[in-house]
Amino acid sequence: MTTVFSGIQPTGTVHLGNLLGAINNWSKISQENNNNFFCIVDLHSITTLPKKNELQKSTLSTFKALLGSGINLNSSTIYIQSQLKEHAYLSWILSSFCQVGELQRMTQFKEKAVSFGTHSGLLTYPILMASDILLHKANEVPVGDDQTQHLELTRNIAERFNQTYGDFFPLPIKTTGSTATRVMSLRHPGNKMSKSSEDLNGTIYIDDSKDMILKKFKSSVTDSENEIKYDIRNKPGVSNLIEIFSAINNQPIDKTEKMFVNVRYGEFKETVGESVATYIIPIFEKISSISDQEVKKIANENLALAKKSAETTISELKNLIGLI
Ligand code: TYM
Repeated sequence: MTTVFSGIQPTGTVHLGNLLGAINNWSKISQENNNNFFCIVDLHSITTLPKKNELQKSTLSTFKALLGSGINLNSSTIYIQSQLKEHAYLSWILSSFCQVGELQRMTQFKEKAVSFGTHSGLLTYPILMASDILLHKANEVPVGDDQTQHLELTRNIAERFNQTYGDFFPLPIKTTGSTATRVMSLRHPGNKMSKSSEDLNGTIYIDDSKDMILKKFKSSVTDSENEIKYDIRNKPGVSNLIEIFSAINNQPIDKTEKMFVNVRYGEFKETVGESVATYIIPIFEKISSISDQEVKKIANENLALAKKSAETTISELKNLIGLI
C-alpha cells in the first residue's frame, strides 16, 4: 500500500502555483491511490506570526480549496495539523536526528529570516515537516519544486533514525507533476509565484474574478521578441505561460508550442488567461458553496482517521526507543 502525504500552509489565499504545483496533483492522486493524507499545516504558519483572525480565516478557506479542487474523501483524509498533537511530539524526537548546520543551510530559512528574523521556529521548521511526513509513514510526497531541499532533509532524518533503531520509517520520495512544478510570477518571471509577492498582479489567486485574471495575464511580462517558444533561460515569461497552459490542459510542452506557432503575444496571453479562468472559476464556485460549519464537520470526521494512523506510529515508536 502506498501512503501519500502532503501539506499546505494556511497563510493567505491559495494561488495558481499551489493549485498547479500541488493541489491539482493531490486531486488526481486521490482518484487513483487509496491512502492519502492532505494536511493544512497551521503550526508551520505560526513561524510567520500571522494575526489570529487571519489564521483562522485562511485555515478554513484553504481547507475549502482542497475540498473544492475535487480531492476524493473516500481515499483521502484532509485535516488540520494543530488538531493532531502527535506532529509536534514526533518533531521533538526527530530533532535529535538533524544537525543544526543542515537547518541553517535551508534556502527557505535564509529567505524567510530576512522578513521574520532568525527565530528557532523558522530554523526547525523542516523538522516539523519531516514529522508530518513520517508520522503517517508516507512513501510519496507530491509537492512543487520549492520543497525539494526539505524532502531531502526528511530522507536524511529518516535514514539516521533507521540506522539507530532499525528499519522503521520508509524513505519518502518527492513526486511532482510533469509541468508547472514551479509556477513563476506573471510580473517577475524570475521569481516564484507566491502569496507574499509584493506585486499582486504577478499572482493569480483562487478568488480572482475572470476580469481580474484576464487583466493580470494581459499585463504579464514576456520579452521583446514575438516567438512563442519554451526556453526558460532566455524567455522565462513566455515559458511560464506555456507551462501554465500545458498543465491546465494536461498536455506536453511541445504540443502547446505547436498550437501557438505564429500567434501574437497579445492573443497568446488572452488564450492562457481564458484557460486559467475556465479552470479556476468552477473551483471557486464550489468553494463558495461550502459553509464553515461543513468544513468543521469534515475536519472533525477526518481528524479521527488521521489520529488513528498517527497513534499507531507513535505507539510503535515509543516501544522502539524505550519511552514508557
Ligand atoms: P506551501 O504552503 O508554501 O505550498 C503548498 C504547495 O504548493 C506548492 N507551491 C508551488 N508549486 C509550484 N509553483 C509555485 N509557485 C508554488 N508555490 C507553492 C509547494 O511546493 C507545496 O507543495 N513547507 C510546505 C508545507 C508543508 C509540507 C509538509 C508539504 C509542511 N509540511 C509535509 C509536504 C509535506 C510549504 O510551505 O508549502
